[in-house]
Amino acid sequence: MAKQKSSFFCQNCGAQSGKWIGKCPSCNEWNTYVEEIIHKETKNDRLQLFSKNKNDKKTANKSILLQDVGLQNYPRIAVPGKELTRVLGGGIVPGSLVLFGGEPGIGKSTLMLQLALRLKNLKILYVSGEESEQQIKMRAERIGVTTEMCFILQETNTQNIFQQIGEIEPQLVIIDSIQTLHTAYVESSPGSVSQVRECAAEFLRFAKETNVPVFMIGHITKEGSLAGPKILEHMVDTVLQFEGDRNHIYRLLRATKNRFGNTNEMGIYEMSGDGLREVTNPSEILITNRENATSGVTISATMEGNRPMLIETQALVSTAAYGTPQRSSNGFDLRRLSMLLAVLEKRCGFNLAAKDVFINIAGGIKVEDPGIDLALVCAILSSNEDLPILQNTCFAAEVGLTGEIRPVNRIEQRISEAEKLGFEKIFISTHNLKGLQIKNFKIKIIAVSKIEAVFSNLFE
Ligand code: TYD
Ligand code: MG
Repeated sequence: MAKQKSSFFCQNCGAQSGKWIGKCPSCNEWNTYVEEIIHKETKNDRLQLFSKNKNDKKTANKSILLQDVGLQNYPRIAVPGKELTRVLGGGIVPGSLVLFGGEPGIGKSTLMLQLALRLKNLKILYVSGEESEQQIKMRAERIGVTTEMCFILQETNTQNIFQQIGEIEPQLVIIDSIQTLHTAYVESSPGSVSQVRECAAEFLRFAKETNVPVFMIGHITKEGSLAGPKILEHMVDTVLQFEGDRNHIYRLLRATKNRFGNTNEMGIYEMSGDGLREVTNPSEILITNRENATSGVTISATMEGNRPMLIETQALVSTAAYGTPQRSSNGFDLRRLSMLLAVLEKRCGFNLAAKDVFINIAGGIKVEDPGIDLALVCAILSSNEDLPILQNTCFAAEVGLTGEIRPVNRIEQRISEAEKLGFEKIFISTHNLKGLQIKNFKIKIIAVSKIEAVFSNLFE
């Protein structure tokens, strides 16, 4: 009979303690410790489940010189669709463990099922602890792709899952979701910190030993971080996040951690009636085509990872109806907006203190690139004066505290994207001119160094 033991776990970071403590010493959160019963397994209890050679006794590893390490060249598994390929850094790495997080209803299960259905020449096991086989079938019919190699398993016990894996021998495993699984070796309820950690650890060992990649869907807490212990993120090779407003049709896929690729990359999807569709040219959909120019709207050439993108920034400035003027921002950092407003007050003499200012980035997209500062400032000015800015103009520059126009990275790419979409004028910083081959571009490049200079060029 195995020995039973209970321990306290921080529900925030997963730290363990023998007794209850009010404040977690590792993450400084209060009141996060919960008692969970752990069932100590005997040494060789586990691992045997998925190890092919059961007599295989693992000996301790010996150190080895780096130059003597042989590179087994496992090619990446090509995935259908450019967006996912780019975010993963060029395909699925064999033996990798990928955590895929996102808010409920955003489309995690849809994207994973789509992946399973479209990887036609791989044997795939889709484990669902959340939906029945019928529900998955209905979803698959909605997506409208048929395949003969996708197995569905409705199961939450990891031991049973590994047994099925042993029978089917899939080449890719998808878990929906890690929070619903439970292992018999830990006696707390599914979704608790120790369960999540243990289940993930089992799949980590499985992936590394068998070289089968595993995708795990993970829930997200109210605060927007992945539910479960932080070590879950340390354990896996790649963390993907699916973001976006559920009320908008666009969804952004980002890698927040990737041991095999770049974390700057982003993929854009559109939720449609038949699954998620890739958006390969985001600029065209993010800009509204208007017949008449409207005040308060500007276009900015921004970068998302390595990808240039044109987005629409909208501003509305109106006299404050109540005592305290409101500042509200959708898709842009509110503190940065306050800073830009202060620059406008102090350096350009605008009186915005008694006005409400509302900012919106079209398409429900969140932008962190400071390169949209200038577009935003011009949108505010345009709305304040109620003068539309010429439609064929766009912006790519940061605004500093003294009102100086600062350079941005990858200016050539931004200019080319603007040119490609038919813009005729782009405002950039004079500091960006260095090394820039203006002759190569047909678009008119206006280099400015002070914010006042922008305004005098704007409405001509
Ligand atoms: P789902 O993948 O179940 O989200 P998650 O697993 O992240 O909780 O997606 C849920 C939403 O997507 C649901 O509200 C319905 C919508 N949807 C579509 O609009 N079109 C489709 O083809 C599918 C399959 C779902
Ligand atoms: Mg789901």
